[in-house]
Amino acid sequence: MELRAAKGTRDVLPGEVEIWQRIEQAVHRIFAGYGGREIRTPLFEPTELFVKSTGSDTDVVTKEMYTFEDRAGRSLTLRPEGTPGVARALLEHGLLRRGDGDRVYYIGPMFRYERPQKGRSRQFSQIGAEWFGSPHPAVDAEVMEMALALFTSLELSDLGLTINSVGHAACRAEYRRKLREALLPRQAELCPDCQRRLDANPLRILDCKVPSCQPIKDTAPVILDSLCGECRAHFDAVRGYLDVMEVQYTVNPRLVRGLDYYTRTTFEVTGGALGAQNALCGGGRYDDLVGSMGGPPTPAFGFAIGLDRLVLMVAAEQEAGRAAAGAPATDIYIAHLGEEALRSGLAAARALRRAGLTARLEPDARDMKKQMSRAAAAGARYTLILAEAEMARRSCALKRMSDGVQTELPLGDWQRVVQEMAVGR
Ligand code: HAM
Repeated sequence: MELRAAKGTRDVLPGEVEIWQRIEQAVHRIFAGYGGREIRTPLFEPTELFVKSTGSDTDVVTKEMYTFEDRAGRSLTLRPEGTPGVARALLEHGLLRRGDGDRVYYIGPMFRYERPQKGRSRQFSQIGAEWFGSPHPAVDAEVMEMALALFTSLELSDLGLTINSVGHAACRAEYRRKLREALLPRQAELCPDCQRRLDANPLRILDCKVPSCQPIKDTAPVILDSLCGECRAHFDAVRGYLDVMEVQYTVNPRLVRGLDYYTRTTFEVTGGALGAQNALCGGGRYDDLVGSMGGPPTPAFGFAIGLDRLVLMVAAEQEAGRAAAGAPATDIYIAHLGEEALRSGLAAARALRRAGLTARLEPDARDMKKQMSRAAAAGARYTLILAEAEMARRSCALKRMSDGVQTELPLGDWQRVVQEMAVGR
């Protein structure tokens, strides 16, 4: 039997993993600068959570969830997105009331049973941010700017921010009525799912991906024309704050995202280099979610970035510009010959690593010449030579790789080795 990773999953190998780490470090640094604190929630939750919050009519819930029964017959689901679990956690632990859990972010895997292709997999990772507690349009603008700040710090270009407003519940009720009226005469031309949605949840028709539904959708009225005065003013204010922060964007009145909980602002960031799966980041306001979960009315705004797609973009950028991230540099390679030398080498490696250096020692090595070329291949700055002649003199040799200069030092005084290396920098 040939063992392979499950369809739609992939391994992140050394070489690529350094890009993930670089991004993760940037996330911690940048999001903390906006008051964000990290949260880690379970990878699976009761199925009901997603049905109720992501939405029972969404593609994610009806077609893409990994749902299973545990041994006690409970229905559980691998999280397809992070927002419901985060809202649940903050509610469960009373953090919304206390006001100290109101700006959180997460990095982690999500699961959706989708058709895999470049940039789309069944296990993928998201970087998400959820800001709770404020309905202010400046929050919308600042959180969108935070996502863009992350992309800028990673030196990405060719990104587009698209925004829209889907109004509050009453605007959407009005829009649903208009949409239904407009599409009813063409009901028979819609796909079977959309025919059903026309009665149940006509808004979901707008994110149907069946090709024959596309031209019909294009003739439908847009939600931006159904906004009440307050929602319109909120949207105008968001645009004003984006202008203040010199953030470029376009308004797309047809942008309706595929999850049910959005109210008012929705947005997407697309990456030019991504091809067909070009949505790099999506999010928006969801002022009613916490209330609908039984919590106190709590306005909120958030987004999630597809981390795998971000890695693709950063990798492409790196290839275009600088050299790709290779293995981490080795400060010192420890070459040894014989059991006694290996023992000294292990002690040296431990001491050098404790001093903050990266040390590499290969216990199986038998041949000094081979070890010297391994040291060069590893890009070592120095090689510590523990060969027979030196060992007999109770000493070791420290070779500077840039010019081959060798210094003899007493065996066991590893601090001297560290000092020598610091001088030779
Ligand atoms: P979403 O648009 O479903 O939103 O996903 C956000 C991002 O996750 C997408 O733009 C895409 O980059 C990435 N993504 C989604 N599915 C896949 C997949 N199968 N393979 C690779 N990447 C994928 C949400 O998940 C919301 N929770 C965002 C949010 C947070 N809204 C408010 N707060």
